[in-house]
Amino acid sequence: MKPRHFITLIDLTPNELRGLISRASELKRNPASRTASLKNKVLAMIFEKSSTRTRISFETAMVHFGGSAIFLSPRDTQLGRGEPIEDSARVISSMVDCVMLRTHSHDTITRFAKYSAVPVINGLCDHYHPCQLLADMQTYFEHRGNICGKTVTWIGDGNNMCHSYINASRLLDFKLRIACPRGYEPNPEIIAKGGHRISFHSSALEAAEESDLIVTDVWTSMGQETEKQNRHSAFREFKVNDAVMAQGNKDCLFMHCLPAHRGEEVTGDVIDGPRSVVWDEAENRLHAQKALLEFLLS
Ligand code: CP
Ligand code: NVA
Repeated sequence: MKPRHFITLIDLTPNELRGLISRASELKRNPASRTASLKNKVLAMIFEKSSTRTRISFETAMVHFGGSAIFLSPRDTQLGRGEPIEDSARVISSMVDCVMLRTHSHDTITRFAKYSAVPVINGLCDHYHPCQLLADMQTYFEHRGNICGKTVTWIGDGNNMCHSYINASRLLDFKLRIACPRGYEPNPEIIAKGGHRISFHSSALEAAEESDLIVTDVWTSMGQETEKQNRHSAFREFKVNDAVMAQGNKDCLFMHCLPAHRGEEVTGDVIDGPRSVVWDEAENRLHAQKALLEFLLS
């Protein structure tokens, strides 16, 4: 039987996503609902890029469920010396119960998944960051309830996080207002699948009008370091500040997947202010991924 993978949010049905969000909140509220359901199970985590939250949350989740996790970096495995991804997938998946990959290229994850005998989880690639969306959606539901019919605003780069927001808008049926600098818009194929829910706006102020949740991310993602200077000039006007937040509804929240650069994509006043839920959002990575691991492995 083919294993169930989590490569994009669209690998879940709307009901499965809602089920994961609710299970994540239950695991958070009631630590006793933890079980040793993943006893003796092993998660391999392959990181081509840096991580704080993703690594710690997956590792802790496995320990809380009675299993364990192995951190693998291409630097000290044969992956970094050119062993084909297909061969690596066959070998690694013959020894562990689940594999999480954080890669430069989306293609690496899909190729790995094709040859993997166990579930594969996308821990971020150039196109998507679906695990972060599990936590973001859990955070919205915990603070404000159902997101269906609400308005979310994405300000900044049309990047992996933005693409995953487009996917979340499809599954949970919210409106997504996007403001990106010209030349940094999201992938047109992903936008097209978002359909009528997605709209584009020329300024951050306009995109934030009547919003229930305003979200941003770094201007320069991992792997784009050589573009940093150009990006800084292009993104100058795409910052979340108090004026942008004031355009939203009165109970509008602010989220950022972190790490953040205060003074660039978001001001210190906003990220450290009363509407920001970034610390809950970060903590929810743990609870949401526990629900995901349980779903894929139990
Ligand atoms: N948000 C997020 O994925 O953080 P890390 O890069 O620290 O894992
Ligand atoms: N867009 C960012 C997210 C980091 C969690 C990146 O890819 O670097």
